[in-house]
Amino acid sequence: MLNATENSSMAVAEMTLDSWIERVERRTLRVGIVGLGYVGLPLTLLFAEQGFRITGLDIDPEKVAKLNRGESYIHRIEPEHLRAAQRAGFTATNDFASVAALDVVLICVPTPLAGKRETGDHTPDMSFVVATIEALAPHLRAGQLVKARRIRERRKRSSLRRSSGMDARCSAGLGRWTG
Ligand SMILES: NC(=O)c1ccc[n+]([C@@H]2O[C@H](COP(=O)([O-])OP(=O)(O)OC[C@H]3O[C@@H](n4cnc5c(N)ncnc54)[C@H](O)[C@@H]3O)[C@@H](O)[C@H]2O)c1
Repeated sequence: MLNATENSSMAVAEMTLDSWIERVERRTLRVGIVGLGYVGLPLTLLFAEQGFRITGLDIDPEKVAKLNRGESYIHRIEPEHLRAAQRAGFTATNDFASVAALDVVLICVPTPLAGKRETGDHTPDMSFVVATIEALAPHLRAGQLVKARRIRERRKRSSLRRSSGMDARCSAGLGRWTG
């Protein structure tokens, strides 16, 4: 009988580059987008157009309900685009437990300016990204790829890893941080 660490190592070992490529080519790779805003929603529709069954996650329940009714809230996105994505398997949810079924999670939540633009300080406010990672962390499993906006400051990156628990998960092969 394998223990939990051996089980997770096996799951990672099974996720070879070849199997990833095959799943992309067969469109069986499960992709999730977190944050269905001006970046996340069009990206969701692009994946759906390419034949991926995609899950959209957002903390705004009204947005989730609207999208699941096939209604758009972005001017240039027609309801027909959404309905086509739904036919390809797109669903929106605010249930973060659904990430357990995904292979790839792309984080598209806001990163507004934290610094003062007029002084040339373009430091982003990463609190939405941190909150998202904390919400995702309990549901991640071996071999998943999680991608967020690049976080440049080394100190912030390691504190983010600590607060999310993803460092430990990385070393146990339970998730993969690429930010
Ligand atoms: N809008 C642009 O033109 C643009 C261009 C380039 C880069 N970006 C970058 O893309 C990222 C997303 O920007 P946007 O314009 O799409 O933002 P947005 O405000 O339009 O959408 C963000 C979405 O994330 C959701 N959200 C917030 N916190 C969440 C959480 N914890 N979990 C799940 N969902 C959450 C919000 O409800 C909202 O639907 C930012 O980093 C931004 O800097 C945006």
